[in-house]
Amino acid sequence: MSASISGFSKLSKTKKIDWIVDTYFSNSEDAKSILKQYWNNDVKLQQLHDEFIENTISNYYLPFGVAPNFLINKKIYTIPMAIEESSVVAAASKAAKFWMDRGGFKTKVISTTKIGQVHFMFYGNVDKLKKFFKTVKPKLIKDVASITKNMEKRGGGIIDIELRDKTKDINGYYQLHVSFETLDAMGANFINSCLEQFAKTFKNEGLLFDGFSEEEKNIKIVMSILSNYVPDCLVRAEVSCKVEDLNEDKNITAEEYASKFIQAVNIAEVEPYRAVTHNKGIMNGIDAVVLATGNDFRAIEAGVHAYASRHGKYSSLSHAKVENGIFTFWMEIPLALGTVGGLTGLHPLVKLALELLHHPSAKELMQIVAVAGLAQNFAALRSLTTTGIQEGHMKMHLMNILNQLEANNEEKQIIIERFKTQAISHSAVVDAIHNLRTKN
Ligand code: MEV
Repeated sequence: MSASISGFSKLSKTKKIDWIVDTYFSNSEDAKSILKQYWNNDVKLQQLHDEFIENTISNYYLPFGVAPNFLINKKIYTIPMAIEESSVVAAASKAAKFWMDRGGFKTKVISTTKIGQVHFMFYGNVDKLKKFFKTVKPKLIKDVASITKNMEKRGGGIIDIELRDKTKDINGYYQLHVSFETLDAMGANFINSCLEQFAKTFKNEGLLFDGFSEEEKNIKIVMSILSNYVPDCLVRAEVSCKVEDLNEDKNITAEEYASKFIQAVNIAEVEPYRAVTHNKGIMNGIDAVVLATGNDFRAIEAGVHAYASRHGKYSSLSHAKVENGIFTFWMEIPLALGTVGGLTGLHPLVKLALELLHHPSAKELMQIVAVAGLAQNFAALRSLTTTGIQEGHMKMHLMNILNQLEANNEEKQIIIERFKTQAISHSAVVDAIHNLRTKN
């Protein structure tokens, strides 16, 4: 049954739940108890979560795990990860250990510039618009002084404002294209507040500008918003070792292994169908850390995939080569992250995650997150080009199957032991549990 309701957001939480369960569920008591099962007993903590968004009726849990032994620029980290996919944390830990013994990860922040735009329409003379922009630019900056004051004190703020002519794409379309340095803040609120003030000043000053005709004075602001495309907020992560040190797998020589690995990366560089899955594996690591540290994974996803298409064709984010007997595997990706503001000071688990990472600056977090992505990609490619992905994946997925079959702890132990030497499939586990239960 479907139903609509007006004034839902004004109802109490209890009333909201009553309406939901009565309207949509055949067993309303069951539905209610599932929703309530996830409430936190700590009333203050629950209220905090209730107030993150509108219409909270329960909490949605994800596992919060850690991957230890990450050696990054000679410092060891244990990386927090929030993710539901069975094999991700295990794969990250394995890759971390592998590279710990081979010099670890090397990272570098290349740039930290973020972008915001005021999109507007102007149908007059472009030279007059350019003249107006030159005249008004100091006032644009002056009018955001109260917003930028604190950021400037810390060394950040507005880097530049450019007037961009986009009339080739849309008749009358121009932008104020603004670059920002937001230091340890992701900066969305800061950037958007500045942009909205720029738009106001730009519009109002346009009305007063003597150089415009009456018609030209009427600049039409369309919208003001930051961009999640941040190709100049870039970080590089890299691992390298002698080819002979890749000698982990007895079934394949180190040289064959390096060459197969590089082929796999090359395929992702030229073939979009593969590149999307290849990059999805990278995002398994990236999103998990981004989420655990209270950052906006949708913004990161959007920006990273746009970057992967920057040459006009979707391609691999990572690259690999062998030169002079040295295997190198690396990635450069755009990551606009924050370690202050937003959820970082609010969500207790996010605070804990940041403490676990030694209270990183945004630049440090960019490097840690990039490493988690590269490690994940390394682990996936290593499995794909040797044993295949299913062996490790099913090992981790075994517990999900056992839980689906409501196995008790004793059954779990027996089955896990049995499948150490046997290929795991859903039906094989069902059979094994069935046999076990009929025997007893
Ligand atoms: C699964 O979540 C991610 C992989 O498909 C990534 C890849 O294929 O490289 C294993």
